[in-house]
Amino acid sequence: MKITFGEPALPKTGAVVVGVLEDGKLTPTAAELDRRSGGALRRAIAAGRFSGKKDELLAILAPANLTLSSVVLAGLGKPSAITVAQLQSLGGRLLAHLNGVGEKDATVLIDKIEGGINLGEAAANLAYGAKLRSYRFDRYRTKEKPESKPTLTRLAVLSANSNEAKRDFQKLEKIADGVFFTRDLVSEPANIIYPETLAARAKGLEAFGVGVEILDEKKMKKLGMGSLLGVGQGSVRPSRLVVMQWKGNPKAKDAPLAIVGKGVTFDTGGISIKPAAGMEDMKWDMAGAGVVIGLMKALAGRKAKVNVVGLVGLVENMPSGTAQRPGDIVTSMSGQTIEVLNTDAEGRLVLADVLWYCQDRFKPRFMIDLATLTGAIIIALGHEHAGLFSNNDELAERLVAAGKSIGELLWRMPLADAYDRQIDSDAADVRNISGGRDGGSITAAQFLQRFVNKTPWAHLDIAGTAWSKKDAPTVPKGATAFGVRLLDRFIAEHYEA
Ligand code: BES
Ligand code: MN
Ligand code: ZN
Repeated sequence: MKITFGEPALPKTGAVVVGVLEDGKLTPTAAELDRRSGGALRRAIAAGRFSGKKDELLAILAPANLTLSSVVLAGLGKPSAITVAQLQSLGGRLLAHLNGVGEKDATVLIDKIEGGINLGEAAANLAYGAKLRSYRFDRYRTKEKPESKPTLTRLAVLSANSNEAKRDFQKLEKIADGVFFTRDLVSEPANIIYPETLAARAKGLEAFGVGVEILDEKKMKKLGMGSLLGVGQGSVRPSRLVVMQWKGNPKAKDAPLAIVGKGVTFDTGGISIKPAAGMEDMKWDMAGAGVVIGLMKALAGRKAKVNVVGLVGLVENMPSGTAQRPGDIVTSMSGQTIEVLNTDAEGRLVLADVLWYCQDRFKPRFMIDLATLTGAIIIALGHEHAGLFSNNDELAERLVAAGKSIGELLWRMPLADAYDRQIDSDAADVRNISGGRDGGSITAAQFLQRFVNKTPWAHLDIAGTAWSKKDAPTVPKGATAFGVRLLDRFIAEHYEA
């Protein structure tokens, strides 16, 4: 789909989208089309429930006296309440509608609205929403019927200040590129994406100016990463640690920001094997890593003036003759010994070494990790919020606010000594599970906290939000890339020169 911008002009063909304000008040272009069609728009509004509330859509097919295939009325609600997020949603909904009815060519006309937001910004964000919704992972669908494929090939978004719209969109499109990269990585099955191939995809970011180092097992062994390596030892696929560095502000003297991702390319549970039903979902147990890689692409793409390191620990958790056993004790890079009581609590074992290595090598301003860490976070928060854990209130508050502003919601969960005591081990310094299932996401976070040293840190448990079974306005079902837009916003808002 090609997205273009331009100054307002009514096209002769295709679908035309115009806005309607609350109580059915037509925007100027809508009123013009109503006049030209002999009142078809007002009649359509009078015939049904559509009243111009936000998120409403009403399509009038082949309206009389016009050569257009359809006129789509988009409810905008109260002019003073129109937000950027609402326009992104509208773009996404429109894209789905237009593909659903089989339109090939559509033109959105954005009028100046008294009290409404800046026109260029509005146009760019509507286009961005459409772009985000247009994602599809169809690489392996060789026999899909043409009638089930998306039809829209051209979307023109017309407004005054169209140069500004174009410029704003160019930046937003870089974020979308990062989001799409993440969605691709997370959607790929585990026979295609495993530690070496995922590392190779990250290496591709060098073309965008990101420095990429790949540490193999030999290097990690030398560094003492017994915790991460223990998880990978049952797999024939060797583990990898990838370090990505974006230096968008080379003059800055302060420490970089660090983002860390769990990259379990497939999680069978290991010897503590998972049940068969639903195990296929564990191909996306590398979503945290996928988000970090996509975020680095977005930051580099839009040349963000900030220094960020991204680290991902990549392993495959398999049962085999060489696999780690329940009860094994491993020594992490931090020197702390870990009693591995359940080999399915593997994400925290991977992150233990990556977080330690990260703070040890980079002394970052803070570390934020993303991980599909616990099923328990889905029990606690469902799929609407990701869990946020942090040892730093400012960091936590900034993350929550950034999430709210772009629609990726976080809910802060507690950390406390009483939970931490539950992972003390009789045989080693720490054990990788507590005694029971209670507070499972919290005890997992407490485990991570033992490996962050004094560094300000936040942990995002994205087990419930990395993948979606239903379409949302700007996120088609499947891999969501939850975290890319959030962290991009968070960084842009607080840390860019
Ligand atoms: N990758 C899983 C968590 C997960 C579960 C993500 C469902 C997405 C959907 C993680 O490695 C895991 O297996 N966690 C265990 C921990 C338990 C053994 C303490 C869990 O949540 O059951
Ligand atoms: Mn697991
Ligand atoms: Zn896992």
